[in-house]
Amino acid sequence: MSSNIVWHEASVTKEDRRSKNRHHSFILWFTGLSASGKSSVANAFAQRLFERGNQAFVLDGDNVRHGLNKDLGFDEAGRKENIRRIGEVSKLFIEGGQIVLTAFISPYREDRQVVRELVEDGEFLEVFVKCSVETCEKRDPKGLYKKARNAEIANFTGISAPYEEPENPEVILDTEQYSIEECVEQLTDILTAKGYI
Ligand SMILES: Nc1ncnc2c1ncn2[C@@H]1O[C@H](COP(=O)(O)OP(=O)(O)O)[C@@H](O)[C@H]1O
Ligand SMILES: [Mg+2]
Repeated sequence: MSSNIVWHEASVTKEDRRSKNRHHSFILWFTGLSASGKSSVANAFAQRLFERGNQAFVLDGDNVRHGLNKDLGFDEAGRKENIRRIGEVSKLFIEGGQIVLTAFISPYREDRQVVRELVEDGEFLEVFVKCSVETCEKRDPKGLYKKARNAEIANFTGISAPYEEPENPEVILDTEQYSIEECVEQLTDILTAKGYI
């Protein structure tokens, strides 16, 4: 190679992408029990954002565990590493100008805090998807609560493993009280008021 060839650094910045997209890039971190509605609301809201012409992408628990994190288990160490990696991936999406919607139980406060601290101020919005264990267990769309009750699944959040509720989430969506569509409206209003979208 000629000594006259000099590497040129990538020059499109996060700020460039945001101004071209005309919206902020950040994480909407959905946290809550299994069947609380994280995936349903995150996907419905991503659809809304897409229709508005916003750049948005959903990272979903089960999907990520099929690939990137398929080597990890559901014990505390596995859950921690799962969340840490997702945080790093989300940070890349923020650099890419995207609104990233993450749908992971993420039961430990400390792990969610790690992600919050990984990104800049205003780039992490914790969305507490609030729903009682009783209602989640009644919904049980994947039959997981049934298995957990029969001890076929160990370390099941809400049954045999803890869920630490957020203390100061930026958003609370009460899926026992509000429909998926109403939650989408609430998110739209909150992010519009913040000037994020
Ligand atoms: N208000 C609501 N918000 C979200 N999901 C709801 C609501 N009411 C009923 N559901 C149902 O509850 C289930 C939630 O499952 P899912 O979105 O996969 O939860 P999670 O990703 O938190 O495990 C779905 O079957 C959904 O249709
Ligand atoms: Mg889900």
